[in-house]
Amino acid sequence: MHTYQSEFQQSIQHPEAFWAEQARRIPWFKPPQTMLGYDEQDHARWYGDGELNICHVALDHHVESGRGDQPAIFWDSPVSGHRRQYSYRELRDQVATFAGALTGLGVEKGDRVVIYMPMVPEALIAMYACARLGAIHSVVFGGFAPHELAMRIEDAEPKVVVAASCGIEVDTVIPYKPIVDKAIAASDHKPSACVILQREQAQADLGDIDHDWQMLMENAMPADCVPVKGTDPLYILYTSGTTGKPKGVVRDHGGYAVALHYSMERIYGMAPGDVFFSASDVGWVVGHSYIVYAPLILGCTTVVYEGKPVRTPDAGAFWRLISEYGVKAFFTAPTAFRAVKKEDPDGKWLEKYDISCLETLFLAGERLDPPTFHWLDDLLDVPVIDHWWQTETGWAIAANLQGLEPMPVKPGSATVPVPGYDVQVINRQGEPAAAHEQGSIVIRQPMPPGCLAGIWRDPKRFHQAYMAAIPGCYLTGDGGYFDEEGYLFVMGRTDDVINVAGHRLSTGEMEEVLGSHAAVAECAVIGILDDLKGQVPLGLVIPKDGFDGDTHALENELIALVRAQIGPVASLKQVLVVSRLPKTRSGKILRKLLRTIADGKEFGMPSTIDDPTSLQEVHEHMVDREVGAAHQSKQV
Ligand code: COA
Ligand code: AMP
Repeated sequence: MHTYQSEFQQSIQHPEAFWAEQARRIPWFKPPQTMLGYDEQDHARWYGDGELNICHVALDHHVESGRGDQPAIFWDSPVSGHRRQYSYRELRDQVATFAGALTGLGVEKGDRVVIYMPMVPEALIAMYACARLGAIHSVVFGGFAPHELAMRIEDAEPKVVVAASCGIEVDTVIPYKPIVDKAIAASDHKPSACVILQREQAQADLGDIDHDWQMLMENAMPADCVPVKGTDPLYILYTSGTTGKPKGVVRDHGGYAVALHYSMERIYGMAPGDVFFSASDVGWVVGHSYIVYAPLILGCTTVVYEGKPVRTPDAGAFWRLISEYGVKAFFTAPTAFRAVKKEDPDGKWLEKYDISCLETLFLAGERLDPPTFHWLDDLLDVPVIDHWWQTETGWAIAANLQGLEPMPVKPGSATVPVPGYDVQVINRQGEPAAAHEQGSIVIRQPMPPGCLAGIWRDPKRFHQAYMAAIPGCYLTGDGGYFDEEGYLFVMGRTDDVINVAGHRLSTGEMEEVLGSHAAVAECAVIGILDDLKGQVPLGLVIPKDGFDGDTHALENELIALVRAQIGPVASLKQVLVVSRLPKTRSGKILRKLLRTIADGKEFGMPSTIDDPTSLQEVHEHMVDREVGAAHQSKQV
């Protein structure tokens, strides 16, 4: 019998043997002979000489081995009033046909395809169709504005863009086609074709390079899976870093397929035929891994939900879905349940549904704060499991492994490192931290299969962002500590990345947008505590000398500017004009100090920004007090 300790030790001491055994669990066209290699940057790459196709692993293989009639997707869309189901065979056929359509548009192995779609089954079909051809998809979250989409188009240089005519946010229809058109116009790179899925809520006008999804499908011949190397790229997923330019995280076919298969069994305790529901979005890593790929790799059914935890139509949405589709494991971000709790603190909606099918609730995307944990733990009869991961890793780094050895839950902890991840906490002296000593969390090489293969066409940035700080280790960007029992507590980012409603955002990028305004001399954006979203950004700006306009109007203009440039997802609803910002003697803005001031933990400040005037006053006061004190104690 496997125990956590035995499996973890084997994975760290004999990684190649460990991952060779796991690789045998998935179908290859040509099984790998060499498990582990290193690239020019000494970064681990898995299964380089194996050949497979993740679309074959997730679809064709299951159809061929008798799972063809099993549901692969349950799509449920209260916002459009539709629901639909696809069997494995139907999905495989649709994917093969769309792959044929893409071939007709000139897409070949290695080409990029940008996908800008809401939570519709066609988003999954488009992703799998790219994978089938060995093309590289890059899905962009629908809440991003044209400028963000343009940056991604420019970086990925797609041959084709696939989009829907609109998304639906609760009861607001958001036309996507104008966003796509603006993005393409703004980008130096021009795709040669654009495929539009027409939705009845907003039909898009089609231009010269545009093709109607339905018509393409009617005329396309199905395409077969193209064998690719284990290390060939499957997708690029852009994520926020510390600068304005997002990082294109590259993931490969082989390692990803093996890691996701392993995780479904060991972390999530799933078996083929079970129903898995991840309430995220295909635009985020959670969506890529646990809506699109992992459930189908294992032969499960995935629930694809186009709606919110609340208001679509009510706070019982999650319970209804779990009950109706017989969900065994449910995964979402804590913020989603904070939204439910706010509307239904006593769990009245839960009483309406039989959710006895649910065995485990998993949460990630941000730290599971103890109040939300306790609320869920009291409400439900199943384990409530926090687990920690990031876009770069693609699957959990630390978890409570339900399919291996479930452990007692400690609120606030993501439990233990997952087999394959040699997690270390490094203190300020650059040494391994003692129990309970906080430090920077790193992962020793080799990182397990499934983790990022690099940054798209930017090996230098990859090295500098992740590998340069501590030789032989990957820097996660998160800080935290181990307790004496080896439980890991992830406390937050050590850089300027913030986490808003489970969405990762760059304060540096927002600062670039604010700083681009003609009236702004200096600015800082910090994340401040928010009861619902965990954090929200707050902008602090100093106007240029001689600015004599209306400060309130300027603040509103800046809020609108960030929304227009980055998108509604930025959630920047508060900008304050201030006269000073705390700085070091060399002129660097003291963001950490600003965060402490705004969080108000030590200063008795309000933790929300309901009262901007008082926040502004306290801010000015604190800057005086803290900068003065810091200068005096020579800490600056
Ligand atoms: N397309 C267009 N706009 C979008 C969008 C999309 N796909 N997703 C979000 N937006 C918009 C929202 O409508 C909102 O606009 P507004 O400022 O006009 O109200 C804005 O972007 C901010 O969105 P969000 O931060 O998600 O706030 P919200 O109030 O709409 O919803 C939650 C809050 C907590 C319910 C929601 O964020 C949620 O369910 N999050 C957790 C799940 C998740 O996906 N996590 C990702 C990793 S697991
Ligand atoms: P993303 O890349 O968007 O998935 O965001 C990853 C970041 O979210 C991590 O680096 C953490 O800062 C945070 N995060 C995700 N899950 C957790 C968790 N369970 N506990 C603490 N932080 C988390």
